Amino acid sequence: MHRPIRKAVFPVAGMGTRFLPATKASPKEMLPVVDKPLVQYAAEEAVKAGIEVLIFITGRHKRPIPDHFDKAYELEAELERRGKTKHLREVREILPNGVKCIYIRQCETLGLGHAVACAQPVVGDEPFAVILADDLIDDGEQGCLAQMVERYRRQGGSLLGVERVPKEHTDRYGIVSVSDFRDRLGRLQGIVEKPAPEKAPSNLGVVGRYILSASIFEHLANTRPGAGGEIQLTDAIEQLRRHEAVYAYEFAGRRYDCGDKLGYLQANVDYALKHPELGAAFAEYLRLRGQRVA
Ligand code: G1P
Repeated sequence: MHRPIRKAVFPVAGMGTRFLPATKASPKEMLPVVDKPLVQYAAEEAVKAGIEVLIFITGRHKRPIPDHFDKAYELEAELERRGKTKHLREVREILPNGVKCIYIRQCETLGLGHAVACAQPVVGDEPFAVILADDLIDDGEQGCLAQMVERYRRQGGSLLGVERVPKEHTDRYGIVSVSDFRDRLGRLQGIVEKPAPEKAPSNLGVVGRYILSASIFEHLANTRPGAGGEIQLTDAIEQLRRHEAVYAYEFAGRRYDCGDKLGYLQANVDYALKHPELGAAFAEYLRLRGQRVA
């Protein structure tokens, strides 16, 4: 029996430079896709995977994130007074009862590896998940993290969510090399952060989903700044895989890079088309608009 994955870490202290000026004074994780902020999609995916403790690594300018998951007394009282029961339910049911949120302030943004290391006092010695909220993943059903937890239950170890990325984009991702790749899973043989296309070991890029053994903290403690001068989670994973089994898991589903303006727009269009209340009207709008453009 492998230890259950009960905790998920959400590094949300980043500056969101790719999305300026929108992210000058508000967190990129609060950008809405149709009607929900990215961080809520990420939290919902975690809860669907059985996570009970959400650990947010926050920073300055990130107050709206704890506010979003907190009780909103005035808003709720006002909605109640006006009889807006549907909206009231929406703001009350952002997280199910029993799910706990913990906030840790990362005072200096020294890199993703540093952010994950900040969670050690709360994670302790158990395996845990990491979710990067700007990678929005739609698998149409159980959720990407739940897929990974299912695989983890079978073979244990650490798992990285990967997808095939265009060769010319390898310098945007952690890129892995794997052996014995079958049934979506391969054993990690190496991982390198943002290699140039001619140096990339493959086109399998890590997206923002990880299940990690607590040993990662020992490796993070010894990790010096790497690519971009940042303490990279990728570099600690490269050390981890030399001591323990790490797997790359090619998840089923579509990922939207919502830290990027184009990826964000694509997510909004696709999620709007699937939205139960807006979908039909939005599809009609796009149809008419397409005719105008043509
Ligand atoms: C981070 C990781 C990178 C990973 C990517 C996925 O990079 O360092 O290995 O491929 O997330 O989104 P960032 O996008 O924060 O620069």
